[in-house]
Amino acid sequence: MLIKNIRIEHVDNLQDMRIENGIICEIMQDVKAKEGESVIDGQGGLLLPPFVDSHVHLDTCLSLDVTGPNQSGTLFEGIRIWSQYRKNLSKEEVQERAMRTIRLYQNRGVQYIRSHVDISNDLTAFKALLELKKQVADRMEIQLVAFPQDGVFASEQVRKNLEEAVSMGADVVGGIPHFELTREHGEQSVRFVAELARKYDKLVDMHCDEIDDEQSRFLEVLAAQAYESGLGNKVSASHTTAMHSYNGAYCDKLFRVLKMSGINIIANPLVNVNLQGRFDTYPKRRGITRVKELLENGINVSLGHDDIYDPFYPMGDGNMVEVLSMGLHLCHMMGYGELNDSWRMITYNGAKTLHLEETDYGIAVGKPANFNIFKAQSFFEVLRSEREILWGVRKGKLIKCEK
Ligand code: FE2
Repeated sequence: MLIKNIRIEHVDNLQDMRIENGIICEIMQDVKAKEGESVIDGQGGLLLPPFVDSHVHLDTCLSLDVTGPNQSGTLFEGIRIWSQYRKNLSKEEVQERAMRTIRLYQNRGVQYIRSHVDISNDLTAFKALLELKKQVADRMEIQLVAFPQDGVFASEQVRKNLEEAVSMGADVVGGIPHFELTREHGEQSVRFVAELARKYDKLVDMHCDEIDDEQSRFLEVLAAQAYESGLGNKVSASHTTAMHSYNGAYCDKLFRVLKMSGINIIANPLVNVNLQGRFDTYPKRRGITRVKELLENGINVSLGHDDIYDPFYPMGDGNMVEVLSMGLHLCHMMGYGELNDSWRMITYNGAKTLHLEETDYGIAVGKPANFNIFKAQSFFEVLRSEREILWGVRKGKLIKCEK
């Protein structure tokens, strides 16, 4: 297959790309079609690697019709609704909702997802998604995080479930230190999760400091653990919204250990702008970590949708450009250069967080032909008004994207 007239990763020159056996085998200007070769006109559109959602909860997505609505819109009502609903989960119901969510993502050019799965109550959802992950592997690469939503030290059963999920095939060990009963338990939970990850050779991704309390400082504990244990960039911290409220002197100190550790940060702008600031009168905080400053300091930041139409967030349809757009607004990253380069947060930065280098993520000769071609000619245009994907391609095959 030959794709003509594309702008690869924002390069101004129009180029052509040849794909054979699912692999990118040529990128040049004016490539002539071979006899019988199928030719697609890219119409001068922008070609980017597939989107990566670094943080979502596939077990809760699209559940709002069955859980009932969250009237206050707060995290606390969301947790209460979900804790009730999760007691009655079935494998089939979880898989059906997750499959619909995966289709939404596919239509929006996402090919890689990291999903947290709550294992606090039992392993029904985890087992369901482990099975589904294998079934959809040809079209969507899914990483599963064994996530103790109630806290590692909520009970002996949670720790048992966590280790069982990890031994069954979770890719990542999760945690939630700021939600543990005490600061001491939070710190212990970071060590517990890191030890489990080392024991089973897994990645780490903890919900970390997802609270407006400027005293919530588990990120430094997690980063120090990543540094001292040698886990390094295998560790990610999700949310870290408390950083929004830290003072400048503390942040300066914090950034030192973040850089030393190689830790990845994942921000979830849509959900956190909704859930944070709920205890503020006015002014109300924006509920997002310091994305701009983290990036300026060379710390890897990627973005996640977090929730889609569930008790925690009633909106969303798997559109990572919408996630990014909200993040850019909230973080004052609306300079022209920032807008044009921002696609990296939902592509390469996410790939780095998920350690996708091992799966040959990216656009280059010799790599698998996985990418999206947009109707727009620049990413600025994609963000501003033109989000339509002309062609999605996975392993050299065209994916039908909804127009
Ligand atoms: Fe989350």
